[in-house]
Amino acid sequence: MSMDTIQDLFEHGLEDIYHAEHQLLDALEDFEENTEHEDIARAFADHREETEDQIERLEEVFDLFGEPPEKEECDGIEGLLQEYEEFVAAEPSQEVMDYHNMAAAEKTEHYEIAAYGNLIPLADQLGLDEGADLLEENLREEQDALEELKELTEQFEMDAIPAE
Ligand SMILES: [Fe+2]
Repeated sequence: MSMDTIQDLFEHGLEDIYHAEHQLLDALEDFEENTEHEDIARAFADHREETEDQIERLEEVFDLFGEPPEKEECDGIEGLLQEYEEFVAAEPSQEVMDYHNMAAAEKTEHYEIAAYGNLIPLADQLGLDEGADLLEENLREEQDALEELKELTEQFEMDAIPAE
């Protein structure tokens, strides 16, 4: 596969985020199951539902682009999730786990925001107006999810975790 054109760049990015969204479907389920704090767990459950819609939108974008939906191993998200698994394996206390789940999810949101933010101008350049709108919708959901997580992080009862 050549990697010299806007089309190549777009296809590569689209396949990467398509894989990442699938990985995140599973990860958000883990984040939710590993969280005791109700509001935080609900944020993960809500974003998991949004992720299902995002995957459908990506499939529409593939369709508009004229290619079948394909995944390309997304080592970026894979790495973040591997780090997460290692942290869970260290058996943190529940409060530490809750806090860390938000941190891990926020990192994935930043990855996705960067990915969508870079795909949209490529879609524009390729004349895929409808595709750009769909990617924009995904981007907005990721930004909202990040904002919600940031607020929950700010509201988190730090006193529940011993300082040392
Ligand atoms: Fe997503």
